[in-house]
Amino acid sequence: MSRFFGCQPCLIDRPNKDLWIIGHRGFPRVAPENTLTSFEKAIEYGADMVELDVTLSREGVPVVIHDSHLSRTTDGKGFVRRHSLSSLRKLDAGSWFGKEFRQEFIPTLSEVFELFGSRISINIEIKKESFSKRQPWVVEAVLRTIEDFGLRKSTVVSSFSPEVVRQIKRKSSKQPTAILVSNRGKKAKNLIRQTGADALHVSLECFSESLVEDMDLLGIPVRVFTINEKRTATRLFRQGAQAVFTDEVKKLAG
Ligand code: G3P
Ligand code: MG
Repeated sequence: MSRFFGCQPCLIDRPNKDLWIIGHRGFPRVAPENTLTSFEKAIEYGADMVELDVTLSREGVPVVIHDSHLSRTTDGKGFVRRHSLSSLRKLDAGSWFGKEFRQEFIPTLSEVFELFGSRISINIEIKKESFSKRQPWVVEAVLRTIEDFGLRKSTVVSSFSPEVVRQIKRKSSKQPTAILVSNRGKKAKNLIRQTGADALHVSLECFSESLVEDMDLLGIPVRVFTINEKRTATRLFRQGAQAVFTDEVKKLAG
């Protein structure tokens, strides 16, 4: 694991702990988010891990896209889940960002694993909207894909949905997981206990040193999103954050 989780010398202030720079949707400042080029760029510029967002196509294939709707990041319309994989594949997922990216498409999770799984650790965020308690296919599909590629040890599955995290742990207890929190009112300790999550991913607003102390007692690392200033990242590491998610991979990891 340490091969993937190397410390960033410029930011170190936490002996004996690895500190990670996580490329949020890849390196979305230089390439369209959640595309193969975005992940390639995050690796090139020194990220320790890439984060991506997963939802399902109509037939239940995990695809990598942030929104439940196609319109912001592709030339398609409507909900991702209403489209077959073959129709999603025809969409242009790059021109919205820049004409030179018009060849980009919505990748499947398998494609990302195939290209990058042996090169970098990957945080798979399962979108809350892709999960239904009655039809928990997204959980099964993501776990199956991780297993097919033998990537359990270098992946973290996260979600804002406590039920998703709980089900992941129930089905694959050794799979590293994280619960996402962006609401100050949420009680992190309770969420960790309820879900069995192995890490806490919080927005900057939810971060505090006392939260780190509470989590330390449970052996839970705290990772913070989305941090685009090096000064803020340095402060967070000093205060005990174990990782930061960033759109600015070059600035923070360089
Ligand atoms: O996983 C951290 C972060 O990506 C959560 O928010 O909306 O960017 O997926 P969002
Ligand atoms: Mg995300």
